[in-house]
Formats: sequence, C-alpha cells, structure tokens
Amino acid sequence: MTNLPKLSKRLQCAADLVREGSFLADVGTDHAYLPVVLAATGKIRGGIASDIHKGPIERARAHVREWGLEKTLSTMLCDGLCGIESYAPDDILILGMGGELIADILARAPWTKKEGVRLILQPMTHAELLRAFLLENGYGIVKEALVKEDKIYQIICAEYTGRTEVRTAAELAFGKENLQRMDETARELLLHWQQILGRRIEGKRKAGADASEEIKLREEIDTWLS
Ligand SMILES: C[S@@+](CC[C@H](N)C(=O)[O-])C[C@H]1O[C@@H](n2cnc3c(N)ncnc32)[C@H](O)[C@@H]1O
Repeated sequence: MTNLPKLSKRLQCAADLVREGSFLADVGTDHAYLPVVLAATGKIRGGIASDIHKGPIERARAHVREWGLEKTLSTMLCDGLCGIESYAPDDILILGMGGELIADILARAPWTKKEGVRLILQPMTHAELLRAFLLENGYGIVKEALVKEDKIYQIICAEYTGRTEVRTAAELAFGKENLQRMDETARELLLHWQQILGRRIEGKRKAGADASEEIKLREEIDTWLS
C-alpha cells in the first residue's frame, strides 16, 4: 500500500478538530484525503465522503480503494448534506467552499441543529456571512483557528446550542476568539484587511457611494490593532 497522503496545514487543523471515534461526513471532499487519513489512522470509526461533482467523487472512490478503506468510508455523489442525514454523522466537515455556499448547505439541513453534532467549516470567502448565519440560527462557535499557508485560512468549529448571539462586524469577519488571541497570524489578517478596506473606501468615495459599513469595520480593526 502507498504511503498515506500528507495533509496540508489547513486540512490538518480541521482534522485536529474532529473528535476521536466519531462518524465523519466530509462534504465537498474532492480527493477525500482528510477522511482517508483519519480512517486509516483509526481516529474516526467511519465516514461518508461526498461531492456534488462526478470527477471529485471518482477521485475520492479511487483513494478509498487505494488505501483499502471501503469498509469504513463510503462515498456519495450528492448536493451538500442531502442524503447524509441517514448516516447520522457526529462531525461534519465543509471545507474549501465560499461562506455563502456553506451557509446555504447548512440552511438546507436543519437536522444539523442537534446536540452532539459538530460542524467544522472553512470558508474561502465571506466568513462574516457564515458566522452571522451560525449565530442567528442557534449554532454556538466553540473554536476558531487561523492557518497560514499561501494565504490565511479561517476554520470555524460550531455546535448547536439553541441560543442566538450578536457579534460586531469585526467579530463576524475574523472570529471573536481569533481577535482576542491576536497572535501574529491574526495581526497579519487584520493588516491585510485594513488595506483592502482602505482601497474600497477610497473607491466608494470617488464613486459617491456609501462606504459607512467599510469605515465602521476599518475603525474596529484599527482599535484591535492598537
Ligand atoms: C475547493 S474543493 C475543496 C476540497 C476539500 N474539501 C478541501 O478543502 O481541500 C471544493 C469541492 O466542493 C465541491 N462542491 C461544491 N459545491 C458543492 C455542493 N453543493 N455539495 C457538495 N460538494 C460541493 C466541489 O465539487 C469541490 O470538489
């Protein structure tokens, strides 16, 4: 058998949030490297790796076969979490998609609003929309992480509590725990956004458009960086 794939820092960080002995659903799995590694090393008792596209799911199936994991890992061609409920997963991974799409996938799967189910999410964009969706819909954020590779990735771990929460614009965009920790990676992320917002504010001012939201977020970033 060939060596197990080496997980990137981003995938390893998500894998570390998966609980020992859980049944995993990896939605939008593509290569299925993460479930393959977790099943082969015995961290999870089983899992379902799904994808909406044929090419990725065929790749996932080939990798499951390559490492002889057919008995512990199933694969499924499906949209989001449709059809995944019957597997009763404990931990659900949705990594490498836009924040809006992740929120939409969760909105179409209200069965994830269940005590004991853990969501491990990594939005490529619009982390603020995903956090707002989670907090308005009774999911509590239990852990936040930032991973620096070619860029800085945000990883959000959430579980259903039934309580709604309100956060500031910066807390939604960057994660309250990340802001409070304010390590080197969080600082770098905020400095990056300070620049992006500066350009957006300038552009909007020139176009005579309302830039009040961007100004408010930048002021909050300035305060966190001071
Ligand atoms: C950028 S890849 C991320 C792969 C892997 N999760 C990772 O983070 O390395 C995104 C994957 O999500 C899949 N995808 C996109 N929309 C989806 C949906 N609605 N349901 C399931 N999979 C989806 C794509 O086919 C693609 O394989």
